[in-house]
Amino acid sequence: MEAVLALIGEELRDVEKQFRKDLESNVPLIRKVGEYVLSSGGKRIRPAMLLLAAKLCGYNGSRHIPLASVVEFIHTATLLHDDVVDSANMRRGLASANTLWGNEASVLVGDFLFSKSFSLMVADGDLNVLRVLSAATTRIAEGEVLQLICTSDVDLSEEKYIEVVVCKTAVLLAAACQAGAIIGGATPEQEEALTAYGMDLGIAFQLMDDTLDYIADEKEFGKSIGHDLEEGKVTLPLIETLRRCSDEEREIVGEIVVKEELVREDFDQVFALVRAHGGIDYTVRRARDFVASAKSRLEIFADSPVREAMFRLADYVVNRGK
Ligand code: IPE
Ligand code: IPE
Ligand code: MG
Ligand code: MG
Repeated sequence: MEAVLALIGEELRDVEKQFRKDLESNVPLIRKVGEYVLSSGGKRIRPAMLLLAAKLCGYNGSRHIPLASVVEFIHTATLLHDDVVDSANMRRGLASANTLWGNEASVLVGDFLFSKSFSLMVADGDLNVLRVLSAATTRIAEGEVLQLICTSDVDLSEEKYIEVVVCKTAVLLAAACQAGAIIGGATPEQEEALTAYGMDLGIAFQLMDDTLDYIADEKEFGKSIGHDLEEGKVTLPLIETLRRCSDEEREIVGEIVVKEELVREDFDQVFALVRAHGGIDYTVRRARDFVASAKSRLEIFADSPVREAMFRLADYVVNRGK
């Protein structure tokens, strides 16, 4: 991440200033909740990707700052809604907004951020950027609904799971890169390569996030461990485990994923199965494949510090602890 910060650290600081400004509203609760989530220390991966993609295409104007802010606005809106849907009580190492202000406030402030992001895109005035980012928000919503339908499904295939991951997560990382490419005046080939980089990286990112839900240090991860299992989310570590385990073990998992509340023993049982059947190793391997693929997409660009930083960003995804 050092390489990334060395290149775009200053711009990322401008992005922080920008979205503090974009948050302005006469309704105090919006500012309060918005400030809380925006100040709670997200990794800012999506704005970083937009800035880097634009830079890689030689962009040197000033639209990248507000657009990077928009991308983080969209991301923040999805997190506010997602924590309500997932009944999450922890985000970025702090109490989640729904825990502090309730589901109603989270949903409504999320709506504010979503609609504000559209006004900001209109203010930017580029129909191509608007097309890409609005399509992404639609697909995120589809992904979240698709995932809802798949809750507690022990027959969920890897293919279907990846489809959910693409929609709910990867599409926004891809759109961030694509928006950067568009403002940077990329050729169609470059735009396609950068979009594919974002997509591959986005898939790897969610795969690692789902792995970390099983193995991370809670403090470092900033979210509750085992929460996916508790919510009946069948993610790749568990899908691989279900492919390899015995009928008896499958039945045990099946009973646990539908339970409303899990006890320590339930977690221990499933965690032990996931470890024993290599669910973690498999998922990390798949994530590494996607990272390698992401990097290969950038081969059409000449070697440069920006491209190098984008490689480092890709590596970070599979090496991160949060
Ligand atoms: C969280 O995204 C949601 C997922 C796609 C896993 P991030 O891990 O990028 O969240 P922050 O913004 O850094 O907290
Ligand atoms: C990530 O969803 C995608 C969105 C927020 C739309 P998750 O539910 O997997 O992410 P975390 O674990 O809450 O960050
Ligand atoms: Mg969630
Ligand atoms: Mg979710």
